Amino acid sequence: MAHRHTDAAKSQGRNTVPGSQEASTGVSREELIDLLNEDLAREYQAVIAYVVYSQVLKGAQYMMIAQELEKHAGEELRHALVISKQIDYLGGMPTVVPAPVKTSSKAQEMLEFDLENENETVRNYRERIRQCEALGEYAMAEQIREILVEEQEHQIDLATALGREVPKV
Ligand SMILES: [Fe+2]
Ligand SMILES: [Fe+2]
Repeated sequence: MAHRHTDAAKSQGRNTVPGSQEASTGVSREELIDLLNEDLAREYQAVIAYVVYSQVLKGAQYMMIAQELEKHAGEELRHALVISKQIDYLGGMPTVVPAPVKTSSKAQEMLEFDLENENETVRNYRERIRQCEALGEYAMAEQIREILVEEQEHQIDLATALGREVPKV
């Protein structure tokens, strides 16, 4: 009996210790739906930003990256579809609201905004993969891993266009 009690206390503690590894990884399915909806809102944001920025970037030195951004737009749309599918699978309703998109008339600033967003997205998806695995959703983790590979490529494209090292996130 005492043994059982200890186990129950332990497993309860797992989700309640703030700041512990388990506390940040162990989310419920409902929490995962909300987090995936935040990811989806960010994918919409990325689609919009890349659609617009790829067309308004001016200047000979930005022609190559403008073409890259146009490709990113299509990839972000695919990500949005994959994330929507996961939300539906979990019994949630995919959001219809994008995260806000910053605008600028300066090419450099547009690229900076994109890079910041990609950094944030990479951080979020790494966390999401851990959360999916903690819930035993290995196939979902795999789908998000494939998205993560492309987000890291986006980071590299933008950092290269800005003449920087790829940021450690
Ligand atoms: Fe994406
Ligand atoms: Fe991206």
